[in-house]
Amino acid sequence: MIGPHHIEGYAIVSADGMIADADGVMPASIKNDADQKFLQAEMDRAAAVVHGRYSHEGGPRAAFRKRLILTRRAASIAPDPSYPNALLWNPSGATFAQAISALDAADSTIAIIGGTDVFGMFLPLYDAFHLTRAAFATIPGGRPVFPQVGPDATPEDVLAGHGLQPGRRRDIDPEAGITLTTWERRHE
Ligand SMILES: NC(=O)c1ccc[n+]([C@@H]2O[C@H](COP(=O)([O-])OP(=O)(O)OC[C@H]3O[C@@H](n4cnc5c(N)ncnc54)[C@H](OP(=O)(O)O)[C@@H]3O)[C@@H](O)[C@H]2O)c1
Repeated sequence: MIGPHHIEGYAIVSADGMIADADGVMPASIKNDADQKFLQAEMDRAAAVVHGRYSHEGGPRAAFRKRLILTRRAASIAPDPSYPNALLWNPSGATFAQAISALDAADSTIAIIGGTDVFGMFLPLYDAFHLTRAAFATIPGGRPVFPQVGPDATPEDVLAGHGLQPGRRRDIDPEAGITLTTWERRHE
């Protein structure tokens, strides 16, 4: 938790733990309607969305959401000329707490939606991480959900290594092999 904010991550990954191909494109094999429905409902209840410059949750209500867009094009925190509800944020120039405060986000969930380095940066902070898996898809040479994922480490290894524990696995689209597991940090 950061102050009153709950930090939650959201990703859909291939069987080999990838979120996109080598060119940064999300292939059709990891796009799924049940996952999109879940993601959009979660984004609607979040106080703000956080992502790198090449990521976006999409959907008809995206423009109404408060968001932080990570970029080195800003020195610290700056208005986004394209989205009135967004701020550009460079973590080298301002802390996450400062950026969230500048965004004036409600005391609720902050949704982290990628890509690789952004997911990795928040590993010590997640209260929950919603990991959707597309069991039938592989993306050789793709971009991993976390920088540590590779032949020796799965996304689950990385989450467990950062103190998160898995909840029950839900089959949200059994025919397509899509499962969703929410990993949570147990606060003592
Ligand atoms: N399957 C999924 O769940 C999922 C989730 C997210 C994304 N994706 C896909 O993955 C693709 C690629 O994602 P990606 O990892 O390449 O891109 P990304 O994180 O969305 O964007 C990378 C850019 O974000 C900025 N950035 C990232 N970390 C930063 C830091 N620590 N400080 C300052 N700026 C930072 C930089 O922008 P500047 O170049 O402006 O400095 C960097 O070039 C996306 O296009 C999307 O299609 C899939």
